[in-house]
Amino acid sequence: MANNKIIIFDTTLRDGEQSPGASLTTKGKLEIARQLANLKVDVIEAGFPVSSKGDFEAVKAIAKEIKGPVICGLARCVKKDIDTVYRAVKAAHKPRIHVFLATSKIHMKYKLKKAEDEILRLAVWGVKYAKSLVDDVEFSPEDASRTDKEFLYRVVEAAIEAGAKTVNIPDTVGYAMPSEFGSLIKGIRENVPNIDKCVLSVHCHNDLGLGVANSIAALQNGARQVECTINGLGERAGNASLEEIVMAVKTRKDIFNLGMGIRTQELYKASQLVSRLTGIIVQPNKAIVGANAFSHEAGIHQDGILKRRTTYEILKPLDVGVKKTRLVLGKHSGRHAFRERLKKLGFDLNEKEVKRTFEEFKLLADKKKEVFDEDIIAIVEDSVRTVKERYHMESLQVSSGTGISPSATVKLRFNNKIAEVSSTGDGPVDACYKAIDGATGIKGKLLDYSLRAITGGKDALGNVTIRVKAKGKVISGRGSSTDIIEASAKAYLNAINRLMYKLGR
Ligand code: KIV
Ligand code: ZN
Repeated sequence: MANNKIIIFDTTLRDGEQSPGASLTTKGKLEIARQLANLKVDVIEAGFPVSSKGDFEAVKAIAKEIKGPVICGLARCVKKDIDTVYRAVKAAHKPRIHVFLATSKIHMKYKLKKAEDEILRLAVWGVKYAKSLVDDVEFSPEDASRTDKEFLYRVVEAAIEAGAKTVNIPDTVGYAMPSEFGSLIKGIRENVPNIDKCVLSVHCHNDLGLGVANSIAALQNGARQVECTINGLGERAGNASLEEIVMAVKTRKDIFNLGMGIRTQELYKASQLVSRLTGIIVQPNKAIVGANAFSHEAGIHQDGILKRRTTYEILKPLDVGVKKTRLVLGKHSGRHAFRERLKKLGFDLNEKEVKRTFEEFKLLADKKKEVFDEDIIAIVEDSVRTVKERYHMESLQVSSGTGISPSATVKLRFNNKIAEVSSTGDGPVDACYKAIDGATGIKGKLLDYSLRAITGGKDALGNVTIRVKAKGKVISGRGSSTDIIEASAKAYLNAINRLMYKLGR
């Protein structure tokens, strides 16, 4: 029976970098490799060195610097490829050459134009040649899940006989179903006589969204190395996501009883780093590392979480490196979460005040996706504490249009004095905000802007809610008008008045 330790083979820098649109510099790859080492992955597939000079240099730099994981490079069963991988990884403490050759009928006939016997000979040659250079050789029969089973068993047996320490079974085109892929792994273990001499690995693509499910099915059937990528990056729809596999195995230890060396607290950081350096954003609802993975909005859920976190959370945010659970206040939130947020913000309101502010909050939440803390402060200050209007807008004139540079003139009253300032800007709203900055002498930085029509039709009332940073504080402001530029200016001035109140001026 296979032992119960899983080898995590990360291929973010090889298959992951094959994601359309993802291209990494050597510096970026090194940064990711360092984080993969922090994460304690067992193997880093650092690249496909023969594919470009840049890839070669990156693999070489990683092999030289990164200690801990095995450093692996990919090669076809071609002398030049294998020699190039060897030159790139030889400085590593633990170098590996990963050779692959397609074995499915469709690949052999149309891509390689070779018969089974030739493929078998070439696979054996590739493994033996790589083995003459390094001890740690991995072999992958590409498109294994669409390969004739009897032929696959023969190729796997021959590759092990030739010296492969790891045999990797790829579902190259993400075609397999979990039960089918699990049976394939079981079949290999039952039909390849020397299978116990190697580590059986899997590499699942995500074309049908089953990369993780197939990898898990393989683990349940005796695979002990799993190839995966951070954020599930990879060719086409990507590879199985490392963070999802790792957290599934850890969370459901009761089912798998498998161990890993991964420091899961580094997962979020790894995900953010890969996203930043590849420029591929993580979808908000991505399991484990998405922005919403630990956010709750529905009132019933928030109420449950506040009573006991585990009612709606199966993972601890800190276990994956996320600071805390986030209760997002929005239109589905309930009074319990709202009252808790008021307390957190330092407001000690009586029942009547809570009721009034909660009603205001619900009205705002209907117009806005997420209600921020600053919005709640604004609601309390408007309806309970009543912020005095320090700056009053006497008039506003804006001119913009095709081919002219937008400009605005504002006239503000402050302490019975009038200040009139004109400014240009990138757009009419920007021009207004700059003119207001000039008139108040307070420079604000716009952090967030949302515009909603309150009523329907051409004369709809526009409601603008903004967040501004000024004098080291973040404040929210709101304004409405049938003219959206005026609504924007009112919201900005409202934020400045709120700032004055905060500063006690
Ligand atoms: O998807 C695949 O088959 C591969 C192999 C090179 C392992 O990436
Ligand atoms: Zn692949």
